[in-house]
Amino acid sequence: MKTFNTINETKKYLNPFHKKGQSIGFIPTMGALHEGHLTLIRKSKAANDLTVCSIFVNPIQFNNKEDLAKYPRNLVLDSKLLSENGCDVLFAPEVQELYPESEPQTLDVDFGDLAKVMEGKFRPGHFNGVAIVVKKLFDIVNPTRSYFGKKDYQQIAIIRHMVDVLNIPIEIVKCETTRETDGLAMSSRNLRLTVGERKTAPWIHQVLLKVKEKSGTLPVGQLKEWAIKKIQEESSLKVEYFEIAEKESLMPIENWQQNGNAVALTAVFLGDVRLIDNIELF
Ligand code: PAJ
Repeated sequence: MKTFNTINETKKYLNPFHKKGQSIGFIPTMGALHEGHLTLIRKSKAANDLTVCSIFVNPIQFNNKEDLAKYPRNLVLDSKLLSENGCDVLFAPEVQELYPESEPQTLDVDFGDLAKVMEGKFRPGHFNGVAIVVKKLFDIVNPTRSYFGKKDYQQIAIIRHMVDVLNIPIEIVKCETTRETDGLAMSSRNLRLTVGERKTAPWIHQVLLKVKEKSGTLPVGQLKEWAIKKIQEESSLKVEYFEIAEKESLMPIENWQQNGNAVALTAVFLGDVRLIDNIELF
């Protein structure tokens, strides 16, 4: 596996692959890699001539300084996992490389309500930061396809919207959430849970499974209330939001007839760790 820290080296290395028309699969990450990320790497490996991964803890998408400071970093172990899983190129820039002080960080895309609900509401500026960095990375790597996990369901909708509006010719591939055997969605933040919290955390997924069973039988509003109460039966869990939304637009729905494509999404605090998860209902 080749590792590059600069934009120029990365572009130079990828240029001949572009010229020959070879397909490039790209997986942007913030590192602290786990099976969820590695599944995306293997999926890309199976479908493309070359697989490129980036590791960059993107400061402008963190609206909470402490979360940024505490974000786990382990480039040595990450590199090992990537090469063992068949990744061909790792791009791991420093902050100055992607954000030189002389350049203003803006993106001329209106995400409308999509950036104002759920994650957008509780993490102001977050999606703007995600979109800016992903656009920069797309410009550097110029992949054929890019792989994203449904774990971050709203993030995929944001990226798809950006690619549509800016006419970027990259296929966005939506991948299933990888879970621990007890159902907890894999996340780099799980490393911050205490032993006790780790035992409680799978309850979120268990309630989401029950919500899927009940969907259509209770009015949407009642099901949301039921789910929040059910999650908080574990007293250490505090629900920040629980929403039922249309799968593509992610606009919250008020009744089941409104749209047959619904997804339930939640953010829950466990101690000071914020966990997100979701489940497609139909
Ligand atoms: P990060 O949280 O490192 O996630 C990188 C990619 O892995 C995302 O597409 C995410 O949805 C996916 N992923 C994480 N956990 C997963 C799981 N359990 N199952 C399947 N896929 C999973 O998301 C980001 O980084 C950043 O916002 C980024 C897009 C890199 C921009 O900075």
